[in-house]
Amino acid sequence: MISSRCGNEKEKQMVAVKELTVSPGAIASLEEQLEAAASARIVKSPRGYEIFHYEDSLQVLRSPDIRRAKLFLYRADNIGLTEGYARDFMERMLNTQEGEQRKHLRTPMARLLSPRKTKTLTEAVRDIVNTLLDEVQNPDDVDFLKEVSWRLPPEVYCHMVSIPRELAPTIGRLSDSLLGPLLTVDSSRKQEVIDAHYEVFSLVEEHIETRRKNLDDDFTSALIEEEMAGNLSTQELYDTGVGLLEASVDNTVHQSAIMMGMLLEDEGRWQQLLAEPSLMPNAVEETLRVYPRFRTHMRYVPETMDVLGTTVPKDDLIFIHVEAAQNDPTVFDNPSEFDMTRPMVPGPLLFGQGQYSCIGQNLARLEMHTLLTAVMERFPKARLIEPWQQHEGPFVREVTSLRISLTGN
Ligand code: HEM
Repeated sequence: MISSRCGNEKEKQMVAVKELTVSPGAIASLEEQLEAAASARIVKSPRGYEIFHYEDSLQVLRSPDIRRAKLFLYRADNIGLTEGYARDFMERMLNTQEGEQRKHLRTPMARLLSPRKTKTLTEAVRDIVNTLLDEVQNPDDVDFLKEVSWRLPPEVYCHMVSIPRELAPTIGRLSDSLLGPLLTVDSSRKQEVIDAHYEVFSLVEEHIETRRKNLDDDFTSALIEEEMAGNLSTQELYDTGVGLLEASVDNTVHQSAIMMGMLLEDEGRWQQLLAEPSLMPNAVEETLRVYPRFRTHMRYVPETMDVLGTTVPKDDLIFIHVEAAQNDPTVFDNPSEFDMTRPMVPGPLLFGQGQYSCIGQNLARLEMHTLLTAVMERFPKARLIEPWQQHEGPFVREVTSLRISLTGN
C-alpha cells in the first residue's frame, strides 16, 4: 500500500491530460503535464490516474503491489493479437509474468546482463563502433540513423550471442517487427509481428542447438548453462534467447540517435563536451533526462488500494509521466536547461525501477558511451546537416531522421 504525504488531498478531475488513444496527438505536452503536476500529486483522467512528480513516480514504480505484467498483453489485444503462436510466446515471456515465475525468468537474464558480464563486452563494442564508423558511405553526409544507430545494437547482439555478423540486418529487422508494433500500438503491423515470431524462434532455436555442442564463453553458452543447471526449462531457454533479441535493439537505436541529435544540435554543447571529455557520462544521462525514449510507464492496481492519498479502484490504470518526473523542479535545478554538469544522481526514470526495471541498461549505456566517445575522438568537427526529426507517440518517441557530417564539411 502506498501512503500519501498529503492524505486529505481530494482527487482532482484531470483537465490537462487528454484521454488515452493510440493517436499521437493525444498525449499532453510537457507544459500541460507540468501544469497538471502543479495542481495535484495524482490526477484522475478519463483513462485512469496520472502521476507527474519524481519521488511519487519512484514510489509507485518500486511498489511491489502495483503491477505491470498483463499490460503488455493488453497492447497485444489492442493490435488484435489475441491467440496463436506469437500470443502464446507473449504469455510465457518475462515481460508478462508476475510473482515466482517472474523471479524465475528474470534471475538468469539479470545474471547474463549484470554489470560485470556486460563489462566483458567493452572491447568488442568499441571495435564494432569503429568498424561502423569506418564503413559509412560518405563521412561528409551520413544517414546516421540507418548507417550507425540501426546497425550498432544488432551487431552487438550478434557478437554477444556469437552468431555471424552477416545476420545483423536480419536481427535488426526481426527485433523491430517483434517489439515496434506493440510499443507504438500499430495494428496495421499485426501480420508482421506474427511472421517475425516464427522466423525468430527458428533462428534462435537452431543457434542454441548448434551452440550446445560447442559451449564457449559467449552469452548463448551462459544461457545454455542456466538450463543445464536446472534454472530454465528448454522452452524457457528458447524464450529467453528470443526475449534478449527482442529487447536488444529498438530502444537503444532510438535513444542513441536522440543522444547524437541533442549533443550536436547545439554547437556550444558539443564544444563543451570536447573541452571536457570527462563530462561524457553526465552528458549521456542529461540526454536521457531531457528526451527519454519512453515517455510514459504504465501500471495497474490488482486490488483497490490507496495510491498517494487517492483510492484507486481494482484494475484501474496508472500512467507515470517520465518526462514530467525528469523535469520535476523540486529534484532538478532549472530542469528546462540542458546541463551536462548536472550530477548523475538522481538518475532518469526512463529505465523504470524495481521489479520490472530494464535489465539491459548497463549494455545500453555501454553502447551509447562507446559511440559518443568514438565520434568525439575521431570526428570532433561533426555537425548536423539538418535538424534531427522525431515522432512522438503516447508511449515512445522514435527518431525518424538524423543526418550528420562527421567531417564537418
Ligand atoms: C536505451 C535503451 C533502452 C531503454 C530506453 C530501455 C527501456 C526499458 C523499459 C522502460 C523497460 C520496462 C521498465 C518498467 O516497466 O519499469 C525495459 C525492460 C526491459 N529491458 Fe530495456 N531498455 C533499453 C535497452 C535494453 C537492452 C539493450 C536490453 C537487453 C539486451 C534490454 C532488456 C530489457 C528487458 C529484458 C526488460 C524486461 C524486464 C522485466 O520485465 O523484468 N533493454 N527496458
